[in-house]
Amino acid sequence: MAKEKIVVEGGTPLAGEVHISGAKNSALKLIAAALLGQGESAIHNVPLISDIVVMSKVIETLGGSVRRDGHTLHVDTAGVDTWETPYELVSKMRASISVLGPLVARFGKARVAMPGGCNLGARKIDMHMVGMEALGVHFHTDHGYIEASTPNGLHGAYVALDFPSVGATENAILAACGAEGVTVITNAAREPEIADLQDFLCACGAEVRGAGGSVITVEGRRPLHGCVHRVIPDRIVTATYLCAAAAAGGDITLRNTEHRQLAAVTTALRQAGCRVDCGADYIRLTRTEPLRAVPPVQTTPYPGFPTDCQAIFMAALLQSRGTTVFVENIFQSRYRHVPELIRMGADIRTEGRVAVVCGVERLHGAEVVATDLRGGAALVTAGLAAEGITTVQGVGHIHRGYEELPAHLRALGAHITEEN
Ligand code: EPU
Repeated sequence: MAKEKIVVEGGTPLAGEVHISGAKNSALKLIAAALLGQGESAIHNVPLISDIVVMSKVIETLGGSVRRDGHTLHVDTAGVDTWETPYELVSKMRASISVLGPLVARFGKARVAMPGGCNLGARKIDMHMVGMEALGVHFHTDHGYIEASTPNGLHGAYVALDFPSVGATENAILAACGAEGVTVITNAAREPEIADLQDFLCACGAEVRGAGGSVITVEGRRPLHGCVHRVIPDRIVTATYLCAAAAAGGDITLRNTEHRQLAAVTTALRQAGCRVDCGADYIRLTRTEPLRAVPPVQTTPYPGFPTDCQAIFMAALLQSRGTTVFVENIFQSRYRHVPELIRMGADIRTEGRVAVVCGVERLHGAEVVATDLRGGAALVTAGLAAEGITTVQGVGHIHRGYEELPAHLRALGAHITEEN
């Protein structure tokens, strides 16, 4: 049973190594994508986190089976015989919406609960729908559910996204796998997780090209089967440990990671005064001097500075010398960690999309509440650098996306425990 609080006593520099887990935001979509191929897929390097449990339940609710063996998930979708995903699961995890594309591709129809808002703002799904409408999907909303149908079948099309939305790009690719002919998606999201989805689909027999760039081509209606695939490392988890060591000081090495996917973050950490050395599958960060403020941090789609790193990098800079401006361009409401950081002595002012962080001499431990996944990780990060004890409540948010965060930090020398 997971504990309810994380308790951190700050002030100890971190030292040692962490093996980085597989990417949550890739693994979730690969599990959904397995719905396309009627057979078993073995997905390796899947993180042991609660969001994966929810996605596994989604597959089981649809009639498939999911078996976990350590970090390998065996997903068998041969028995899937329904196309409805209930609100109970979608409300627990917005990413459940990624089954929409595969269900439409496989059955020509789907009924999925509308995700509604979340802790990061309204988070619409209009672009998901526009993309799939181009392929011939008709949508109808009824009592909080999206009902998708394809009265004239699915056909390849030109899909021009207004914004490179990660989820809309993925759903368009997944639906296009079931469409007759060729689909071209322009202004596609370029995140590494999209390239991982392409690799997975190609291993299942699909013909998808271009992921990692802005134009993705899918040749639909190829017979798909199960496959064996290894999930890419989690770049946001990597960034979290880097920011933790930047905040607390020390010398850490992260293994099983891909530094090229984090260039925007490692550049900013170097600007702040950290030493960052990268090799084929590792990143080492050393911080011995106090940090300094950096030029404005603007979150943008990949390869820009990731919105998922905004809170954790902010937490690292709270005691830096000078003033750093953050501009959050991706989500409407992603500063909910700020009032909690202020309770720890941080000097942060927010106005709309902008947050201005003035470095302070000292942070002090406090009782704080996590309101979302990355914001929660930011509170732990700040706690590592604060004087005294920080108690973080709401850690269920952290367990959604981090495998054993307290245990890994403890192995690096942090004074951190979990309590009820
Ligand atoms: N948007 C729309 N309409 C749409 C789709 C998106 O207005 O149809 C807006 C969203 O409201 C948001 C922006 O576009 O303001 C970007 O959304 P996007 O679709 O790119 O994000 P997502 O697919 O919902 C994924 C990750 C997020 C990550 C973002 C951006 C998953 C499960 N989630 O969300 O991860 O922040 O991409 O990189 O892949 C996290 O892991 O903590 C997390 C929130």
